[in-house]
Amino acid sequence: MPTSDDVIYCARKLTKEYRSSGVVVHVLMGLNLDIHRGEILSIVGHSGVGKSTLLNLLGLLDAPTSGSLVYRGRDESLAGADLAKMDIGSKARVRNREFGFVFQFYHLLPDLSVLENVLLPAMILHGRGAFRSRRRELEAKAEGLLDRVGILERKRFPPTRLSGGERQRAAIARALVNDPQIVFCDEPTGNLDTVTGEKIHDLMRELNGGLGASFVIVTHDLDLAGIAHRKLTMRDGVFVDGE
Ligand SMILES: Nc1ncnc2c1ncn2[C@@H]1O[C@H](COP(=O)(O)OP(=O)(O)OP(=O)(O)O)[C@@H](O)[C@H]1O
Ligand SMILES: [Mg+2]
Repeated sequence: MPTSDDVIYCARKLTKEYRSSGVVVHVLMGLNLDIHRGEILSIVGHSGVGKSTLLNLLGLLDAPTSGSLVYRGRDESLAGADLAKMDIGSKARVRNREFGFVFQFYHLLPDLSVLENVLLPAMILHGRGAFRSRRRELEAKAEGLLDRVGILERKRFPPTRLSGGERQRAAIARALVNDPQIVFCDEPTGNLDTVTGEKIHDLMRELNGGLGASFVIVTHDLDLAGIAHRKLTMRDGVFVDGE
């Protein structure tokens, strides 16, 4: 259970095993983690140690083999709930409402404009009917985010016509459109050159300061890890420097 008031998300004794072709791979070995409200937490570790696996479990994109994920978000009905025990539909709602995601390869939909990509999580959150009636307001919000990340003038472009850095800015705007409590970022600058990556670092720091959302960033980029309030290192399926 969370021990301090500013802990928003608390993973306990997480294990994850993958089984394929009769082989069992033990990736997480009873890992504990507290995520604090509003912090930037970076997670580093060698390739294959299980960083993406952990992020996928925390973000409810995959289920742990065992362990708990106790969440204390803004939704009172979730207070102290073990998300790991929820059904798939409830997990999808929590994911959409409480969490944002930024991936190395952006995962933008190529057939939608940048603005439509940013609006997509809002459409899922509100449902088609309510989304339609609130479209102007939500578009204004999405445009505000695109302005904040510096690519408002690209809002009608398909993502395929943006540079890597611009795509990541669009993905960050999309991650923020539902006012998430936690933004999970997996190698957000892994596909960008150093200068572009540094601009993304500045942007994340600025957004974190302005929004109060927690950012959990998995990275090999030591400069990016350096902007974090806290840095944890994974080895052998656990954190080696406590949590
Ligand atoms: N779906 C899967 N089935 C079987 N094994 C998997 C699966 N996904 C990941 N693994 C294994 O789990 C281990 C951890 O993978 P993971 O992607 O979490 O590592 P990572 O720390 O993110 O590495 P990188 O820094 O290279 O991204 C690896 O040994 C990988 O081969
Ligand atoms: Mg990874």
